[in-house]
Amino acid sequence: MTEIVQHDTNNVNNNITTDKYKALTPRDFISLRVNHEKLEDSKRILKSLNYNNIESKLPTVLDTLNFLKYAFRRDLDAAYEFGRIGGHQVILKMLTTFDDGSEDLLNSLGEVIDACSASCLQFPMHSSTTIKLEERRVPLKISLNIGDSSNEDLKEILIRTIPKDVNEIASSDKTNLTVGYYLWDSSIAMVYWLVKNNIIVQSKKVLELGCGAGLAGIVAAAFASEVYLCDFNLKVVENANFNIKLNSMKHHVDHEEQSQCCCIPFEKENVKSVEFDWDHEDFSIYEKDNLKKESMEVILGADVVCQESDCFNIARVIKYFLKKDFGVAYFIIGAQDSRFGVEKFEEAMLVQGLHVENMDEVINKNDEYKNFMAINEHFNSRPLDKYKMFKVISK
Ligand SMILES: C[S@@+](CC[C@H](N)C(=O)[O-])C[C@H]1O[C@@H](n2cnc3c(N)ncnc32)[C@H](O)[C@@H]1O
Repeated sequence: MTEIVQHDTNNVNNNITTDKYKALTPRDFISLRVNHEKLEDSKRILKSLNYNNIESKLPTVLDTLNFLKYAFRRDLDAAYEFGRIGGHQVILKMLTTFDDGSEDLLNSLGEVIDACSASCLQFPMHSSTTIKLEERRVPLKISLNIGDSSNEDLKEILIRTIPKDVNEIASSDKTNLTVGYYLWDSSIAMVYWLVKNNIIVQSKKVLELGCGAGLAGIVAAAFASEVYLCDFNLKVVENANFNIKLNSMKHHVDHEEQSQCCCIPFEKENVKSVEFDWDHEDFSIYEKDNLKKESMEVILGADVVCQESDCFNIARVIKYFLKKDFGVAYFIIGAQDSRFGVEKFEEAMLVQGLHVENMDEVINKNDEYKNFMAINEHFNSRPLDKYKMFKVISK
C-alpha cells in the first residue's frame, strides 16, 4: 500500500518556494471554469497520479483539497459554481484514481464534496457541456506571515476576482473599465511590503485608491482602525465588499470557525468599500461616505496610473484627503515601459506642493513577493524592477 505523506496546511507559506505546487495548484481548479484545455490538463495530471510517483504528488492534491474546502466553506457561491461547471467530475475522478485506502485523502475529498453540497440542493450536479464565462470565481488564496521573525503568524486572505463579460469589454463608459476585475501583482507586492511594515497603518485611518479586488485595503484592515476601499467602478466596489465579508472575523464567527481560523483578523464594521472617482472635480461630494477633507492618515494605491491625468488627479486626492503634517501616501505603480503617464507622477505631486520620495529600492528587495510571483505565473507579472514605488508626504 502507498505510504501517505502527511501535509501540514498551516505551513503553506514556508513551503512556498518548493515545487510542490507545480503539479496541481488551486489555480488549476480556478481555471476550470473558463478554460476547457485546463480541465483536460487537470484530469490528465490526476490520472497520471495513479501510476507514477504518488508519494511526491499526494501532498499537492491534499493542499488543493484543503484549499477548496477552505474556500467553499466561506464562499458558497464559489462552491455552487464549482459544482455547476463540473468540478465534481474531477473530484470523483480523484476518488476513483486514489483507491489506496488512504483515510486522509478520502476524508479530504469527502469534506470538499460536503462543502460544495452545503450550497446546492444536489451534488454532484449535472455539468454543462460548454464551459463559459460565469458570474462567480473560486477565490484566490494569498498567504502572509503577519508575525515577526521570532513569532510566525501565518494568515490567509481569500480574494475573489470578477470574470469579464463580453458586453462590458465593448462598453464605452469609463466607469465600466474592467481593469479592477483582476488582482494585479502591484497589490501582491504592496501587501508583502505592508505586513513587514505594518506600523505604517497601525491604528490609522486608511484610504485605498483604485482598490480593485481590495487586497491591499483588506490586509491594511488587520492593523488599521478604519479603512476605505475606493474605486469608480460600481461592480468592482461590490466585489471588494464581497471580499471584505469573505475575510471578516464576523463571517468566521458566524461559521463557527473562529477557533481554528487562520484568516487575517479585522472587524467588518471598520472597513467599507466606496464608489469614488479621482477624476471628480469636487471631492466634497464624498463627505456623505465619511471621506472628509484632510482626514486620512494613510493613502495606498497599487497600479493606479495608466495615463498622465491619473497622476494629476491622484495628486489632487492626496492634497484634499491626506491629513496635514502627519499623513503619508504609498504607491506601487507600473514603470514607464508598462504603463502610460508614470513619468509624470513626481511632477504631478510637486504641482500640489506635495513631497515625493522614491522607494524603488525598497520594493526591489521584497523577496517574499518575488518568491510568490515565481510560483504563481498566472498573475502574468512583469519583473519587479519594472515597478516603481513612491512615498508622498503632505507638507
Ligand atoms: C490596474 S487596476 C489595480 C487594482 C488593484 N489596486 C490591484 O492592484 O489589483 C486600477 C484600478 O483603478 C481603478 N480606477 C481607474 N480609474 C479610476 C478613477 N478615475 N477613480 C477611481 N478608481 C479608478 C480601476 O477601476 C481599477 O480597479
